[in-house]
Amino acid sequence: MEFKDKNILLGVTGGIAAYKSVELLRLMKKAGANVTVAMTDAAGHFVGKTTFEVLSENPVLSDLWTDTESSVRHIDVASSSDAAVVAPATANCIAKLAHGIADDALTTTMLALTCPTMICPSMNTDMYQNIRVQNNLDILEQTGMHIVDPDSGVLACKTTGAGRLPEPWFIFDRLGALLTKKDLAGKNILISAGPTVEAIDPVRYISNHSSGKMGYAIARAAENRGAHVTLVSGPVNIDAPVGVEVLGVESCVQMAEAMLGCLPNADIIIKVAAVADYRPVNPADKKIKKTNDNDGLTLHLSENQDILKTIGSRKGDHQFLVGFAAETNDLDAYALGKMKKKNLDMIAANLVGGEYTGFKADTNKVKLFSKDGTVTDIPLMKKADVAHKLLDAVLEQLP
Ligand code: CTP
Repeated sequence: MEFKDKNILLGVTGGIAAYKSVELLRLMKKAGANVTVAMTDAAGHFVGKTTFEVLSENPVLSDLWTDTESSVRHIDVASSSDAAVVAPATANCIAKLAHGIADDALTTTMLALTCPTMICPSMNTDMYQNIRVQNNLDILEQTGMHIVDPDSGVLACKTTGAGRLPEPWFIFDRLGALLTKKDLAGKNILISAGPTVEAIDPVRYISNHSSGKMGYAIARAAENRGAHVTLVSGPVNIDAPVGVEVLGVESCVQMAEAMLGCLPNADIIIKVAAVADYRPVNPADKKIKKTNDNDGLTLHLSENQDILKTIGSRKGDHQFLVGFAAETNDLDAYALGKMKKKNLDMIAANLVGGEYTGFKADTNKVKLFSKDGTVTDIPLMKKADVAHKLLDAVLEQLP
């Protein structure tokens, strides 16, 4: 959603990490951006111009004198850009940008930019830590550019330290945040996601098919929109969203403790987690063995605390509470019943079990019911986009 139809300028300079900018370009194109690459001659020693031209579907800006399209194409590209990123940015390029030097297609275009700009330094550790490079980065930061700190690790020069270009997905994520309106700045948002697992013995448990994708998408969208996000997560196989504080839990008891502990500071609480309603009464401390006596095995379960209902009974007037209702049938009636029973401000109802709206799907279709009677249909779309629509609706309803 952040990249759809956005004009992005991707600057590539001559570092070994230039190969990563090819993947960054692909991620942006896949997300619907129109990307123009501006590269230095040195970058051409690492990745060919044709690669960027074919993948971006735009002519590459590499020479101000032989461009046949327009004599001022660098100005056209600069003025139409919604955001720009230089990855990798060498010490040389950083120095030129800091001091307004415009002696090639990339630096000339950069000087004409008025849009948000991100610089991703990448070089040998000693070069990166050199006071002149650090001073130049300070100048860029003071003039409003966003600096993405390099990763640490083994570098191409065989030394170990800071200077490695972060992975393309990370730069893509941070650029997405840069493109997003900060309409949730100053808000503390508490989100729960994923399943809970309830131990039967040390090796077995009761759980459900929740993947955590919807809750993680909401956490990522909220962070991108400027919120401080705390995500209480059951066990999932998803990377933590960048910039989000993640508290990992397993059982409902642990999730309740984490959620209720964070509750006093939260402005908005969104409870997406699929919490197990029951847990084994006395989990065995040793693995339960087969008995072969044909009587089967009876598990005694006790009801778990309804965390959402507890939050609903404790929340203050300034706090906005959103629950989810995962249903296989009678969606509206069950969702409305849960909203009332748990004292929610909004409930997001979704049918689970379908191929495109299930726990594991990357898409979802949601119906939002608000306490004031407003109903918002969010048609089938990516969970990342559903997340933004849900946050739009929450913002409209906030006290
Ligand atoms: N929920 C919770 N604690 C529980 C059970 C559910 O906080 N012990 C929350 C979920 O995170 C979700 C909402 O309540 O936001 C609805 O969960 P759902 O599983 O759809 O409904 P239940 O209330 O458990 O009712 P049922 O299983 O009978 O449909």
